[in-house]
Amino acid sequence: MTAQILDGKALSAKLRHETAADVAEFTQKTGVTPHLAAVLVGEDPASAVYVRNKQRACEQAGLKSTLHRLSPETSQQELLDLVARLIDDNSVHGILVQLPLPKQIDERLVLDAVHPLKDVDAFHPENVGLLVQGRPRFLPCTPWGVQQLLASGNIETAGAHAVVLGRSEIVGKPMANMLVQRGKGGDATVTICHSKTRDLTEITRTADILIAAIGLPEFVTAEMVKPGAVVIDVGINRVNDKLVGDVAYEPVKEIASAITPVPGGVGPMTIAMLLKNTLTAARLQVSR
Ligand code: GUN
Repeated sequence: MTAQILDGKALSAKLRHETAADVAEFTQKTGVTPHLAAVLVGEDPASAVYVRNKQRACEQAGLKSTLHRLSPETSQQELLDLVARLIDDNSVHGILVQLPLPKQIDERLVLDAVHPLKDVDAFHPENVGLLVQGRPRFLPCTPWGVQQLLASGNIETAGAHAVVLGRSEIVGKPMANMLVQRGKGGDATVTICHSKTRDLTEITRTADILIAAIGLPEFVTAEMVKPGAVVIDVGINRVNDKLVGDVAYEPVKEIASAITPVPGGVGPMTIAMLLKNTLTAARLQVSR
């Protein structure tokens, strides 16, 4: 069996078109253009590319985006001051602080400082709490994108055993949380595995849906995958100038029933969902 390819590039384009229409309608009705402020601290080349892609997608969908570039030596207070200014700026609806941040800055302190109504990444504890309780304000972009990809492939999550590899705040934890919620795209039986998990392969081989988000190139090998499983690869690793995921794509695609490529799988979905969250943020702020 060769797996169905879950094409994130195509799905992202479709969703971004839908969002563009929604943005146009919103702007026409309210006179307000949804506005994302992105903050990039330092010169990490990969982060610079991600932020540029996010900005370009905003512009194509009719959202305004501004980029705040800060030097790698920026102090924590300088960054907090910028976030405070963006919170006070009524023309800004969404604030995105690109991660990772330089080591002199306490990431958690900065993410906690973003106002929950402008928190389009859904990293603020209030938004995480709402998500856990099954009444989300914003859904976190990457897990939401994964959920959309599963839906597009008509992959049933209800009753499925979903195994999430990785327990990050950005992907692993919220992904597991979303899959376990009641309703569409949820109702899964969820296992989270991480670096201390014993007998990992025994667990991953019981997964109907295996989601790899650990940041280790081609970590998931064919022997770790149950034949017919759905494999979602959240990893983006640079190896000798080539991008590879957390999954050994070629061998795994021969035994999986569906798989996401890298690039062109989950990556573009994150951006599409960010645009949706920015529109949601604008709606929430305009209706206040
Ligand atoms: N760095 C890697 N992924 C993300 C993301 O989804 N949001 C932000 N802000 N930074 C990231």
